[in-house]
Amino acid sequence: MNAPVPVVIDCDPGHDDALAIMLAAGDPAVDLLAITTVAGNQTLAKTTLNARRVCTVAGITGVPIAAGCDRPLVQPLRVADDVHGESGLDGPRFPEPTVDVVPEHAVDLIHRILTRHPEPVTLVPTAPLTNIALLLTRYPEDAARIREIVLMGGSTERGNRTPAAEFNMYADPEAADIVFRSGVPVTMCGLNVTHQALATPEVVARLEGLGTELGRTCAGLLTYFGSTYRRLWGFEHPPLHDPVAVARVIDPAIVTCVPANVVVELRGEYTRGATVVDPHRYLDRPVNAQVAVTLDTGLFWDRLVASVARLGA
Ligand code: RIB
Ligand code: CA
Repeated sequence: MNAPVPVVIDCDPGHDDALAIMLAAGDPAVDLLAITTVAGNQTLAKTTLNARRVCTVAGITGVPIAAGCDRPLVQPLRVADDVHGESGLDGPRFPEPTVDVVPEHAVDLIHRILTRHPEPVTLVPTAPLTNIALLLTRYPEDAARIREIVLMGGSTERGNRTPAAEFNMYADPEAADIVFRSGVPVTMCGLNVTHQALATPEVVARLEGLGTELGRTCAGLLTYFGSTYRRLWGFEHPPLHDPVAVARVIDPAIVTCVPANVVVELRGEYTRGATVVDPHRYLDRPVNAQVAVTLDTGLFWDRLVASVARLGA
């Protein structure tokens, strides 16, 4: 087996972020070095509290949590409380968190890790890219210490916050533009692939069937998430977006990709925040991303359930 991949997750928990953290922390293919939080699904205070809650309930210790940016680079913060609820993690009840945050800003913690870790580190953003853009701007020398950025965001097709823009890109388009233009290897796991990760009743039953508090908590998160996807978009089952990015790091065979140029639309009156994906070189621009297109759902759910089982044992 290959050595575990050193990873920092930058997230906005968020129901699917919560499962992404658990997948990363519970899978032996990942060495989770840190969890950083950003405003997105909810305010920074709430996403940070939720990261602490997830680590507490999952028994994840020794992984520093640092809070980052509390608003996008340019536009105002617009949260997704309609999807994730007032707390950002509505549904199950969580115990008082026993895991605290470190005092550093998320960008400084990532910088310190990149500077000191013996090998390049993979960044897995599952949220608006504000922290990552700020890191690349504040510490441009860090780009050489990033193995790759494997992000959840964007789409090869339509959006989910506007007809054209997916939420993580919509929330901070300027930050996304900085990341895609950075020259750092980027893998984009967009809605076109994450909508293949549907949490069916069979998946929920597998989590409940673990017979652990953590399994029941994850089932509760998916049940709530499913209720909002049914109400807002008429989905029969909720797509679990963020863990797909982690799965790509765990085993690239789970998530296949195609090379493409990706640009983020910043000026379109109706398309701001859209990821314009060009695998056929129509725009004659250089390839700057691997774009995820297929998901092996069997392997994906097996790895996710196995991680929850390990953490909750
Ligand atoms: O569009 C889905 C993305 O937006 C996911 O990361 C979800 O957590 C929300 O942040
Ligand atoms: Ca997220």
